[in-house]
Amino acid sequence: MDKAKRKAIIAGNWKMNKTATEAAKLVDELIPAVKDASCEVVICTPYTDLVTAVEKTKGTNIHVGAENVHFEKSGAFTGEISADMLVDLGVEYVIVGHSERRQYFAETDQTVNKRALAALNAGLKVIICVGESLQQREEGVTEELVRMQTKIALRDVTAEQMANVVIAYEPIWAIGTGKTATADQAEEVCAQIRKVIGEVYGEAVAEAVTVQYGGSMNAKNCEELLSKKDVDGGLIGGASLKAPDFAVIVNAASNG
Ligand code: PGA
Repeated sequence: MDKAKRKAIIAGNWKMNKTATEAAKLVDELIPAVKDASCEVVICTPYTDLVTAVEKTKGTNIHVGAENVHFEKSGAFTGEISADMLVDLGVEYVIVGHSERRQYFAETDQTVNKRALAALNAGLKVIICVGESLQQREEGVTEELVRMQTKIALRDVTAEQMANVVIAYEPIWAIGTGKTATADQAEEVCAQIRKVIGEVYGEAVAEAVTVQYGGSMNAKNCEELLSKKDVDGGLIGGASLKAPDFAVIVNAASNG
């Protein structure tokens, strides 16, 4: 399968930005700006914005995601949100294992796997984030690390469920720093991720899976990154908070 046959996905990761009031305004700006996209458009918002985002995007081409999910179905987990709660709201996607959660909230490869399974079993689509720190890159272990993160995150995920899995390669040193990986660096690691998936699930699943790049992707650099054959879209932080910038990226993925 060539790249053109894979689903390109541009997903915004709003992180801890936008009150529900501000979210309503941003979604109102986004709807006309991305309405002609031929790629899949997703906005992943804080939990408190999800109801607004789902309501406002009904009947549009924008899909809504959360930024995290707990792995238990229900119970005494104060402050947590389950996959069923997200599904019931009409949420379709969830980001799992973002490096900020790994770094600040003690997320491990094992809990990433548990969250991914809980989300997939509830019928959500997951965007699983992997990626190395600057030190790991400099030590030359990017490939090993990303292979390991990908394999552990996908443990017990079935080949059928892989249709609902997106992997986002996000080098930590490029997130929110304005320092983007070069298109060749992004391509190299995205291709490695596809290779690992091929080893575990076979060629057909590997060729069909969407692999995104994330880390300071913006309106200026998106075209080059998205032109690479194994880069099927982007996970966009800062630039997803400005409708015109996000629209440029969506259009680049639609043409790519
Ligand atoms: P950034 O964030 O685009 O602001 O670098 C990307 C991400 O963390 O998903």
